[in-house]
Amino acid sequence: MTDSADRQERLQPTRFPIDDKRVYDAYIAGRKSAAIAAAVRAGLFDLLAGGALPFDRLQSEMGWSERGTRSMLDALMAMGFVEVTTDGFTASADAAAYLTRASAGSLWGLVDMEVDSFLSPAALLEALAEDRATVYGGEDPWEAHAADPAKARAFTAAMHSVSERPAAGLAERLDLSTARRLLDVGGGSGALSISLALANPGLECVIWDIPSVCPIADEYVASAGCGDQVTSRAGDMFEEDYPSGFDTVLLSQILHDWSFETGAKLVTKAFEALPPGGRIVIHEKLVEDDDSGPLANQLVHLDMLVWTEGQQYRVSELTDLLERCGFSHVRRVRTAGYWSAVEGSKP
Ligand SMILES: C[S@@+](CC[C@H](N)C(=O)[O-])C[C@H]1O[C@@H](n2cnc3c(N)ncnc32)[C@H](O)[C@@H]1O
Repeated sequence: MTDSADRQERLQPTRFPIDDKRVYDAYIAGRKSAAIAAAVRAGLFDLLAGGALPFDRLQSEMGWSERGTRSMLDALMAMGFVEVTTDGFTASADAAAYLTRASAGSLWGLVDMEVDSFLSPAALLEALAEDRATVYGGEDPWEAHAADPAKARAFTAAMHSVSERPAAGLAERLDLSTARRLLDVGGGSGALSISLALANPGLECVIWDIPSVCPIADEYVASAGCGDQVTSRAGDMFEEDYPSGFDTVLLSQILHDWSFETGAKLVTKAFEALPPGGRIVIHEKLVEDDDSGPLANQLVHLDMLVWTEGQQYRVSELTDLLERCGFSHVRRVRTAGYWSAVEGSKP
């Protein structure tokens, strides 16, 4: 028997003819997430971004045990996020770009949140039974953010980290050359407004969010240096009418936070606030109509389950919603990575 035939036989013994690899790989994938989250929280990639380091130096800078350092480096090298050069260990190009704090568009804030196990199997089991957000022990997440500035800041940092790169994709793909005033409903850190304003010098954007988030948004806007174009306004998108005087309304990752019925109310309010010819833009990670993926977006249904009252949208669900609320010329635009915009105009 050849080596490879022998290996095949051992992979699929006659007693267990169905390959277990796909199941095992799905199970072990959680380790990948745990490893990058721990490395991000500990600042490993920030350290490696400063240049290659030999093992001893890396271990001492991190303050880890020798066995721990070896285990972590082995795992990260297997994933390709750490590489070995003649000068020592270094971060791969994508790890340096997306797992370090200082890098624009970095996903560190999102990955860092994994340390708090918001989506552990136990949390998921609880959310499945309860059918309500369970992340903060059952408290409404937005009320928790309103009451606790530290929670609002951590969540807004994570959202900024999720949104900065797709915002750049949206700014590239969406023609806003005729738009003058954009209302960024539930605009969070302002990642979207900042990107759209920088790409469209004639555009004024207003981030409309709950009072505890607006000062945080102001900080992001100030550090992006676009305070002359982007401002924040405290409000409540459910309790108040949308402010008037805007020709464009953006809802980025808002509809997926609430039920389809609540989503319809938010879109209807946008329709009422816009002038004829005004535009609505919905920015989301959409799921294809035949549920063929992308897997990454379909898995976000589970994040929505533990964090919110919502779910990810299929392309047709969003298109139908906009048309039912009165918008015409509704079309989907793929922007960057897993992201899309669906836009429509008020006749
Ligand atoms: C998932 S985040 C999206 C943030 C941003 N649009 C983005 O894509 O990065 C949802 C945002 O809605 C805001 N929000 C929640 N309830 C709100 C309300 N009643 N009125 C206005 N904003 C609200 C939250 O504070 C948060 O910033």
